[in-house]
Amino acid sequence: MRAVLTLALAVALLLPAAAGADPIQQGIVIPHVPTGTPPVELGQQLFAGNCATCHGADAQGIPGRGPSLRGVGALAPDFYLRNGYMPLERPGIEPTPSRPVFDDREIRAIVAYVASLGKGPPVPSPDPARGSVSEGQRLFADHCSGCHQIALAGGYLTGGVAPPLNGVKPVQVAEAVRIGPYLMPTFPSSQISDKQLSSLIAYVEEAQHPQDRGGWALGHVGPVPEGLVTWLLASAALVAVCVLIGRRIQS
Ligand code: HEC
Ligand code: HEC
Repeated sequence: MRAVLTLALAVALLLPAAAGADPIQQGIVIPHVPTGTPPVELGQQLFAGNCATCHGADAQGIPGRGPSLRGVGALAPDFYLRNGYMPLERPGIEPTPSRPVFDDREIRAIVAYVASLGKGPPVPSPDPARGSVSEGQRLFADHCSGCHQIALAGGYLTGGVAPPLNGVKPVQVAEAVRIGPYLMPTFPSSQISDKQLSSLIAYVEEAQHPQDRGGWALGHVGPVPEGLVTWLLASAALVAVCVLIGRRIQS
């Protein structure tokens, strides 16, 4: 009986070990640090436990697993952590927005640690009140709607997904535009100035709360699809009438 129990215990202990054998896929590691530990130090420990397997012990990058984070500043880790893109489950898949796995203190700590590794851009502080919604709409139509759609609904791309933007915050938009995550292009300030970025964000804010003036909302895509739908319904009705008339003539 004792032998059986020992065996069961050994299996129970070994199973998680075997599951954890893959060096990349692992759970979230939260170190226990004394209160008052400087953020950068906590950040380094969180990084060692959750990021180093792909980005390297000193964030220098590991070919085939994760890029170097030296010089990305505070901007990129803030974006990737606050929107739950990182830690990635395994290399090679598209990082997707989800619930962040770290709390605010932990995120600040990791961001401070990564930012301490090299000179890089800070977390932006956009001011949509300075922007113009109409200029923003034009900029969005030119640069963003091809993937995210003018009504922010998002869409499928070859090899990825452009997420819907109806819940995003101003900082998130400012960060995404400057980073260009995954398949999204990077827009440096030479292409979209800080002033234009304010307008772009003002438009995104406005479009998140559309006012439907009459007609069907149809996903807020405007009068052209509404016309198309009318035509579709009308032509279906016409076909039905033709079929009916045809039957009458035959009988
Ligand atoms: C399973 C591997 C993996 C893990 C674990 C992981 N990353 Fe990443 N990370 C990647 C890959 C791959 C990319 C590049 C994604 C892409 O193609 O856009 C990336 C990109 C990033 C970027 C953007 C870099 C840039 O140049 O814009 C940041 C910032 C980042 N990761 C931070 C982190 C942090 C912080 C953690 C730990 C909490 C973490 N990552 C955990 C694989 C990983
Ligand atoms: C070529 C297609 C493409 C274009 C053009 C593009 N995006 Fe994106 N965008 C993406 C993809 C793909 C992602 C998701 C990235 C990922 O999964 O890592 C994304 C992510 C984002 C996010 C983050 C959403 C979230 O929930 O975290 C924001 C905000 C964003 N884009 C805004 C913009 C704005 C503003 C523009 C125009 C200046 C723009 N995008 C242009 C493809 C695009």
